[in-house]
Amino acid sequence: SDENGKPPLTIRLCEPRGFCAGVDRAIQIVVLALKRYGAPVYVRHEIVHNKYVVDGLRDMGAVFVRDLDNIPDDGQPVVFSAHGVPKSVPAEAERREMLYLDATCPLVSKVHKQAVRHVRLGRRVLLIGHRGHPEVVGTMGQLPEGSVVLIETEEDVAAYDPADPAALGFVTQTTLSVDDTKGIIDALQRKFPLMEAPSSESICYATTNRQDAVKASAVGTDLFLIVGAPNSSNSRRLVEVAERAGSRRGLLVQGVADVRVGEIAPGSVLGMSAGASAPEVLTDEILAALRARFEVRIELVQTAIENENFPVMRSLRDVPLTAA
Ligand code: F3S
Repeated sequence: SDENGKPPLTIRLCEPRGFCAGVDRAIQIVVLALKRYGAPVYVRHEIVHNKYVVDGLRDMGAVFVRDLDNIPDDGQPVVFSAHGVPKSVPAEAERREMLYLDATCPLVSKVHKQAVRHVRLGRRVLLIGHRGHPEVVGTMGQLPEGSVVLIETEEDVAAYDPADPAALGFVTQTTLSVDDTKGIIDALQRKFPLMEAPSSESICYATTNRQDAVKASAVGTDLFLIVGAPNSSNSRRLVEVAERAGSRRGLLVQGVADVRVGEIAPGSVLGMSAGASAPEVLTDEILAALRARFEVRIELVQTAIENENFPVMRSLRDVPLTAA
């Protein structure tokens, strides 16, 4: 203990952590749509996988729905979530003459284009990803049913028996484990050496950077806290990365209520990061709770500087004063 009587605690704080440019843009789209069109603004699926964000937007007048069927024809806009949507969703919105704003992350849209391009060039598309995740549903839904094959594991590679092993191309979900994905791609390339180039993994910069920072700080940590939601793919991957890279224990926490401060031993070394959909205020609240009990020493572990910024669509940007 120091002279204040508080026991010491070291926290390795990862940088970058938390919001990525795609999440930031998606949230801005809902906020700006509320300003421009008034409530309600419908949002199909959680705009990003975080309860705090969703609750905050709901308080402002956003109405979250499972599907377009749950939206009345009242002329109010609908926003599609950052994860992307199958092509059938904007098609249905157009059929119903709905005003829709697509908050799909531009890096997810890029994957959609790559998948479509593979098929245009006569290739069967392999999508490396997690079954049931909305991004996977959206990417598979860019193409007719049956034209995209989902690969979740190296076992799936072993079991896959294509009609034409030379006419294959792959894409990946943006929020996968970099290391697991490399294993799957190596297995694909070993099994299908004729697989068409250029195929490359499509894990995004934010996923890669957050995993790198956790890897760089994990060794020797007694506990690694990842702020994020249970349905957030990139957050869950960070917990795995922390444990594999040498933390004694990784723990996904939605907020300060999930952190058992009383169970943290004095003198411990903690790691801390946050998934791409977790707002910084949740990290701040946890740090405040830890500071209330411990004499906290922060070690910043910075492995990248991010300057990405994805602008919102023109229709939501302020009309310039000089416009005619
Ligand atoms: Fe986009 Fe990656 Fe974030 S795909 S929404 S930048 S986690």
